[in-house]
Amino acid sequence: MIRLAILGSTGSVGQQALDVVRALPDDFKVVALAAGGNAGLLHAQAREFSPAALFARPGHDADALRAETSAEWQPLEAMATREDVDLVLVATSGLAALPSSIAALRAGKPVAIANKETLVVGGPAVRDALDAGRSRGAELRPVDSEHSAIWQCLWGEAPESVERLTLTASGGAFRDYEPSELEAVTAAQALAHPTWRMGPKITIDSATLFNKGLEAIEARWLFDIPLDRVEILQHRESVVHSMVTFRDGSVKAQLGEPDMRLPIQVALTYPHRGAVKPAPALDLAQRGSLTFGTVDTERFPALGIALEAGRREDTSAAAISGADESAVAHFLAGRIRFTEIALLLAQALDAHEPRRTGDLEVLLAAEAWGRQFVDSRVAAGVR
Ligand SMILES: NC(=O)c1ccc[n+]([C@@H]2O[C@H](COP(=O)([O-])OP(=O)(O)OC[C@H]3O[C@@H](n4cnc5c(N)ncnc54)[C@H](OP(=O)(O)O)[C@@H]3O)[C@@H](O)[C@H]2O)c1
Repeated sequence: MIRLAILGSTGSVGQQALDVVRALPDDFKVVALAAGGNAGLLHAQAREFSPAALFARPGHDADALRAETSAEWQPLEAMATREDVDLVLVATSGLAALPSSIAALRAGKPVAIANKETLVVGGPAVRDALDAGRSRGAELRPVDSEHSAIWQCLWGEAPESVERLTLTASGGAFRDYEPSELEAVTAAQALAHPTWRMGPKITIDSATLFNKGLEAIEARWLFDIPLDRVEILQHRESVVHSMVTFRDGSVKAQLGEPDMRLPIQVALTYPHRGAVKPAPALDLAQRGSLTFGTVDTERFPALGIALEAGRREDTSAAAISGADESAVAHFLAGRIRFTEIALLLAQALDAHEPRRTGDLEVLLAAEAWGRQFVDSRVAAGVR
């Protein structure tokens, strides 16, 4: 019985993680659940799973739940380091759980990580925490489908035999659009992802392809591999989740229907495989064909900007991640056009004064700088 803390239980990944727990009731006990603002859903989850600890941001519904529940009300960091927690799933968006992820690793806990920003902004600090806690059981288990695929391909392989990692990219909502059509696309169109159902920030990042840049940087920190050995391949069907090429020329890939419940289950049950299929089984005969191609970085400049920032191995990736957080929020609020997201990211990368550091405070300051830079450009109407 694995005792779980789920940070971000009310989000897309968090809810699907609870589906996995429902399907494997003898394997997991939910000990702690944390939400952001959706205290109503957290309340329902608390009734169903009776966790020992809960958290939601203060507000009317959260205050009501806090008054009513017998569970301990605990901030994320305390929750992630509880004695009775065996595994922490980080499924929050943004940077809310970065300190908790670091604290959990330092405390020797395995952390199943869905959240990208944690590694993109705090990669060096997260790896330090992993090294500090490793002898007591700390490990990082990828949840994102691409990184889960690479992780599974690497099981039992020597690190020195890896030549390169290949992340597959569906291409997002606008993969067939002409540049002129991209000018006028709306938030509603961008939120309709062709293959995955996800939270709003990652769905917009998928439409700009910035998400694939974040994933490449994430892979750099998860697998401790230089970014120039991580490549991107367009694959519309999202069935081949990613691949590893070894130095003898062998290529391993992991396949499955595009459904996050499978990589979530793999991360939760590791080193074993769960006894049930959490997602529809893949039927290749019915699929018929799978297609591959190059990704068009000219049409989707946000990808190139993210990769450039990541290659610098300094505070640039943190700054660009903050800039994107803000740019996506402005796009969703209808204040800027879709194509202006990449424009603002390029300006932020140009204006940022980078520092080469693993200091978390400096990395977080760079992220905050990126957000403020974009906010001030949008407020001034300068783009
Ligand atoms: N969705 C996917 O398929 C997918 C795949 C790979 C990676 N990821 C990554 O996983 C992370 C989560 O993605 P998602 O799609 O599940 O996002 P989401 O649906 O927007 O959910 C975000 C979760 O974080 C919680 N949260 C937000 N701010 C918080 C705060 N300050 N304190 C505590 N909790 C907070 C939200 O709570 P409330 O809803 O209660 O406000 C919600 O539970 C992201 O980093 C994303 O890039 C997602």
